[in-house]
Amino acid sequence: MAFTIDTKFKLNSGYEIPQLGFGVYQTPPSETSRCVTEAIQAGYAHVRAFSFYQGMRANTDHVQIDSAAYYQNEAACAEAIRSFSREKIFFTTKIMPYTLGYDSVHSQINRMLKDTGLGYLDLVLIHAPYGGSAKRKESWKALVEAVEAGKVRSIGVSNYGVAHLDELEKHIAELEKERGGKEKGGVISVGQWEIHPWCPRNDIVEWCKKRNIAVEAYCPLVQGNRWGEPTVKKLAEKHEKSEAQILIRWSLQKGLVPLPKSVTPERIVANAQVYDFELAEEDMKSLDIGVYEHVSWDPTTSLLED
Ligand SMILES: NC(=O)c1ccc[n+]([C@@H]2O[C@H](COP(=O)([O-])OP(=O)(O)OC[C@H]3O[C@@H](n4cnc5c(N)ncnc54)[C@H](OP(=O)(O)O)[C@@H]3O)[C@@H](O)[C@H]2O)c1
Repeated sequence: MAFTIDTKFKLNSGYEIPQLGFGVYQTPPSETSRCVTEAIQAGYAHVRAFSFYQGMRANTDHVQIDSAAYYQNEAACAEAIRSFSREKIFFTTKIMPYTLGYDSVHSQINRMLKDTGLGYLDLVLIHAPYGGSAKRKESWKALVEAVEAGKVRSIGVSNYGVAHLDELEKHIAELEKERGGKEKGGVISVGQWEIHPWCPRNDIVEWCKKRNIAVEAYCPLVQGNRWGEPTVKKLAEKHEKSEAQILIRWSLQKGLVPLPKSVTPERIVANAQVYDFELAEEDMKSLDIGVYEHVSWDPTTSLLED
């Protein structure tokens, strides 16, 4: 498949998600608006539509920004987003970890809408499965109701293991019965996990691919912990690209939705310049490293009762 900066995936909700996203975890609120603006201008968008930002003409098409209640920078993202055309920006946020529950999810979504002033949220994810089965089901039901109310367009989960995903399918079937009909249980559009060559999560990716669930890859740059690793370094030299660009390209060619983060203007630009080269089959194979070494937290292995 040929990728371009315009590549989008059609979600189970019917909406489209741009394949390349921009992450803002650990981006200080005071810097977030500048970084999101630079990402939008950098070509996480395609040169097509125009809008004004501080008197400048900016290039935007569909841009994806990944925030979370936990990051405390949703409002700062929205400040930048509001300077562009709302329909062109795909804004994701996440329910605060360890706060699952029906009322909690409803009130968090209302709070997100109020703080961002965005009118609707493109994607809301359950950030982590912690809370136990009953809370996960109630939280999902609250997300489904938020979609029905037009507050949220697409919903999904993050950091769920295969057991949590199987349970979610069971919950969806139960909600369909309880709420009277197909679709009343909601559809899973997106899942988000730490994924890179040292943590490929093939089982989860396969589970999602079978169901057309878009798989977002967080920490696609391994949080900067693997620079200089011989395999990636060799590929960077071969393709005359940076190691970061090799890792982002790996993610794209795996059919994932990578969410690289940076606060550095040159890196924000360079991380989107990944469409003028291709990793060959043997290059991709050389990145099948066969280990399970995550750099972030790993709730996927938590028990269903946790
Ligand atoms: N759902 C979850 O539980 C979860 C967990 C973690 C992350 N996420 C999401 O995924 C996004 C990405 O993950 P992440 O921020 O943890 O890690 P990441 O994107 O893998 O790495 C970010 C680090 O790489 C550096 N960097 C970026 N571009 C670079 C380049 N071209 N050359 C060298 N260094 C570069 C950044 O430095 P500078 O910023 O200083 O440039 C930063 O230190 C997050 O922002 C967040 O949106 C989700």
